Amino acid sequence: MNIPLIPGIQAWQAYRESDMDVTERERTEAVLEKNMIEEIIKTRDITPGQLEELLKTEDTGLLEELREAACETAKQIYGTGIYLRGLIEFTNYCKNDCYYCGIRKSNRNAVRYRLTKEEILACCKAGHELGFGTFVLQGGEDPYFTDERICDIVSEIRICYPDCAITLSLGEKTKESYQRYFNAGADRYLLRHETADTAHYAKLHPPELSLEHRMKCLRELKEIGYQTGCGFMVGSPYQTVGTIYRDIQFIRELKPHMVGIGPFIPHGDTPFADREQGSLERTLRLLSLIRLIDPYVLLPATTALGTIHPQGRERGILAGANVVMPNLSPVSVREKYMLYNNKICTGEEAAECRDCLRRRIEGIGYRIETGRGDKKFSNSKDTKNMF
Ligand code: 5AD
Ligand code: FES
Repeated sequence: MNIPLIPGIQAWQAYRESDMDVTERERTEAVLEKNMIEEIIKTRDITPGQLEELLKTEDTGLLEELREAACETAKQIYGTGIYLRGLIEFTNYCKNDCYYCGIRKSNRNAVRYRLTKEEILACCKAGHELGFGTFVLQGGEDPYFTDERICDIVSEIRICYPDCAITLSLGEKTKESYQRYFNAGADRYLLRHETADTAHYAKLHPPELSLEHRMKCLRELKEIGYQTGCGFMVGSPYQTVGTIYRDIQFIRELKPHMVGIGPFIPHGDTPFADREQGSLERTLRLLSLIRLIDPYVLLPATTALGTIHPQGRERGILAGANVVMPNLSPVSVREKYMLYNNKICTGEEAAECRDCLRRRIEGIGYRIETGRGDKKFSNSKDTKNMF
């Protein structure tokens, strides 16, 4: 029997078509699987066949090897430090109508709110006192927040907290607007690409939104010099191994600083109310894979992951994630920023969330890293990752 020496999909195909006996099969399987993870590490890439195998396998040995490799990779670079990003959800008004999102404009049941500049600054003050080095201002695409208003808020935060990082997550804007926010003092921007497959994108969004424009925004953000984050939901309706493969390739090309991935969770007042929730297991496998493909990437263990499983965020960290984003929004509005059903942390004050996360992180042998959390990156305009 000629056991293929080259790992990867050809090897798998040859192996599957072979007539090896059981022990030989098991031995070969072990060799091939080991090689698969090694090959991912070596090439920082994955083939479509390997991805399919990785997402579908029930081989616990292989899965543990994947998880451990990712966890070790994160530890080699970041040690046991987990970065905190304080999330301020400052408006749930949105002019868009994404089919998956609970704050889409067509959801008449959403109770809308906007925080004032003073309220946003109060969140930053509380966060700063709790030791947060990064504020993430996230909101729907709300026309009330004109460039002037955003720049006014950003520059005020910049003056009050010169050492903090200011992250914006306000959706699609013109390059000119992104530049204005940057000049006002913002240094990071999160804009999930949602899916890198055009046809899939069109099934998740109304026709006025396009993947092409989304990608243009992401490239412009990088050009301006933002530390940029993209990302996608795991298990969104119509997602396939093929669309995930495209996500992975897109991430490899864009080289973002952060990749936010979390499970899709249906929201009762959206067209996807009856769709199946994304799986914990699949999310964890993809977190590990992304860690191996881009060792330096900042990878949050998301609130959505914590929502679908009580230890979801801890499991995320143990799969290679190294960021958590506790909520700094006033408790009075938390329930209203409902992107999906049963979102956690809606009743907790900022300090409670921070303490809860600290306990969780320390409980699995990690610790909270204070500060801006970008010491691993150069501050130059070249925002390429080191890999
Ligand atoms: N389930 C999980 N994640 C969601 N998001 C929006 N709606 C949902 C949902 N139903 C994610 C999107 C968006 C980010 C802010 O939240 O990926 O970019
Ligand atoms: Fe918010 Fe646990 S992180 S309560």
